[in-house]
Amino acid sequence: MGYGSGRGKAILFGEHFVVYGFPALAAGIASETTAKITRVRSFGWKLVDNRPAMPGYKEKKYEEQKASVENILKHFDIDTTTMGFQIDLEGDLVCASGIGASAASCVAIVRALNDEFSLNLNDEQVNEASYKGEMGYHGTPSGLDNTVSTYGGLVWFERDLNGGSPKFERLTLKKPVHLVIASTGITASTKAVVGDVRKKKDANPSWFDTISEEYNQLVHDARDALVQMDLTKVGTLMNNNHDLLQQLTVSSRELDILVTIARQNGAIGSKMTGTGRGGNMIALSPDEVSMKQIAGALEKEGRAAGVWTTSFGL
Ligand code: MEV
Repeated sequence: MGYGSGRGKAILFGEHFVVYGFPALAAGIASETTAKITRVRSFGWKLVDNRPAMPGYKEKKYEEQKASVENILKHFDIDTTTMGFQIDLEGDLVCASGIGASAASCVAIVRALNDEFSLNLNDEQVNEASYKGEMGYHGTPSGLDNTVSTYGGLVWFERDLNGGSPKFERLTLKKPVHLVIASTGITASTKAVVGDVRKKKDANPSWFDTISEEYNQLVHDARDALVQMDLTKVGTLMNNNHDLLQQLTVSSRELDILVTIARQNGAIGSKMTGTGRGGNMIALSPDEVSMKQIAGALEKEGRAAGVWTTSFGL
């Protein structure tokens, strides 16, 4: 039996811009997906998906998930015409758009295969194979999600637009930073939303250049502010990043409502996170007490399909 796990993630800054080579900051969260590989007598592979999930998530992602597993098996030249196994997915990561559920499952499956087939992979090779899995979900992922899912922690990430390995760095903060995550319950297709942004960029390059330059300055400022633990500034920059994502048209009414509720209840900054047009939002909390208050307010307002708290930075 082989066993592996991968973490969920929250993008603090840079979804969509990261696809075009701009830096992103993202944090691994405590929740994870686990995978177990059990050999069976019949040939081929079978997936039993027991992950907790937003309604409709698994159905919407099913075809992409199959493509993803096939990509991973091909990467390792694992031939299932002459042997068979079952993959069981579980864990405490609730699958929702924006939380890195697809990347977490790719990393978990790769690590379980590593264990079962004694592949002797290091984290870099786990990450590389998980990227292939992510390609099943959307043709040209930036690699941010699988990197954060593999390594955890707070990650500064830059994609190499020439197809080389991405540059990334793990940052450690002086104290943990507290986040509230809330889900709209709406599952978005990353492929469709990323494709749509690309169309808008191609139709109006100067518009995209202006927004991206603003983002580029913002993410560098955010890195400095985080390292200096200037959370008020980080929060303001998160709000500004949300504005830019609205301009890219990847936010939605449901996300904007959650972002506003969080700000009205003590968040020092809030923004959508991940693909957008549904999925999740994150809110930065000044401390643990406020984190609970913000989460409580989001639950009470009844506009979120799920509310979680997490910390990052250590
Ligand atoms: C999805 O979690 C993040 C996007 O930037 C896509 C990517 O980075 O591949 C929207």
